[in-house]
Amino acid sequence: MIPFSPPHIDEAIIREVADTLRSGWITTGPKTKLFEKKLTDYYGSKSTLCLNSATAGLELILRWFGVKEGDEVIVPAYTYCATANVVLHCGAKAVFTDVNPSDFNISVEKIKAAITDKTKVIIPVDFAGYPCDYDEINALVNNPAIKKLFRPVSAEQQALGRILVLADSAHSIGARYKGRFTGSITDAAVFSFHAVKNLITAEGGAIALNLPPPFDNGTIYRTLAVKSLHGQNKDALAKTQKGAWRYDVVEPGYKYNMTDLAAAIGLIELSRYSEDILPKRKKIFDFYSSFFSEYSWAQIPEYENQDKKSSYHVYALRIKNISERERDDIIKEISEREVSVNVHFIPVPMMSFYHSLGYNISNYPAAFDCYSREISLPVYYDLTENQMQTVAEAVAASVKKVLEIKK
Ligand SMILES: Cc1ncc(COP(=O)(O)O)c(C=O)c1O
Repeated sequence: MIPFSPPHIDEAIIREVADTLRSGWITTGPKTKLFEKKLTDYYGSKSTLCLNSATAGLELILRWFGVKEGDEVIVPAYTYCATANVVLHCGAKAVFTDVNPSDFNISVEKIKAAITDKTKVIIPVDFAGYPCDYDEINALVNNPAIKKLFRPVSAEQQALGRILVLADSAHSIGARYKGRFTGSITDAAVFSFHAVKNLITAEGGAIALNLPPPFDNGTIYRTLAVKSLHGQNKDALAKTQKGAWRYDVVEPGYKYNMTDLAAAIGLIELSRYSEDILPKRKKIFDFYSSFFSEYSWAQIPEYENQDKKSSYHVYALRIKNISERERDDIIKEISEREVSVNVHFIPVPMMSFYHSLGYNISNYPAAFDCYSREISLPVYYDLTENQMQTVAEAVAASVKKVLEIKK
């Protein structure tokens, strides 16, 4: 069976993890701090805080900004549940909006229609690694009429004076928008280093900070670091300094810190990311696109144009003019040919919990259409050319079979 997305673990990673184990320092320490610095240099943000997941990063920013009951946060209907769950954790309302039929990303027109005087944050999601329309989104939150609607409550909301843009860049490390990396474009962006992502730490995530003046991103980094470790004013490393055992708890914080064991993996991954990992993924994307461009039933995903370059995270193929049921039948056929595929994503309003809150997928027709015709193909470091060919042929044969039955 060709797997969907196994991690690439080689001797370099094993050596770095073993070195960390032998160093005697396995929790948040020097390697996490180094990883934060290298990430900041890589994507060009003002500061980076590493955490144990992207989900933790999304929640920390919402908490820091003072999002609470009575507030609204705009999220795309087409995303992973984490993007919306964190909004509910804060007691606020997730306002789902529909996506662009072309690229699966949040529609700026739909954001505009969803903004109210309760909107505190917009969370665009770089689906599959493809950046959202950030110039338009940043212009929208800075539009004088929309700024006038904004009702600041917390000191942070007052200082920003407008809706915060928090990019869910879980998929998009290394992606570019008009030459700039995601992580350097919005007020804050969150990356995921979960085991199936482009750059892994087994589990992990990071917040990239780029808040405008009067904010000092170094100060916000320290505030968020305290929040991520129980509200302690010193982390484990700081407490080991001579005579520095005493600490205080300044708020009831969370337990979201990254370990040095995880950072060790991330350091190796990042050292080869732009020269090795990204080009390999692009090659797989290009192979699939060239193969499927021969078939009239194939809708090739958009992953590069003049302004945007993907991080080539998910190859989201769509089949034209099929139903959800036919898509499922095609997936069954593909798995019978020993190839693992997936669907990204089942829109969040379709999940039973969200449905029980009153959200209805019929209000997000583009998200439903994207979902019902989508099949994500294997993309991973060790996928060989022969395997790419096997995957593509399995997909083509399976589509042919299901479409013939339909006739
Ligand atoms: C779009 C999106 N946002 C957030 C997350 C959450 O990432 P993590 O597992 O690092 O919390 C994921 C994970 O798959 C995701 O796909």
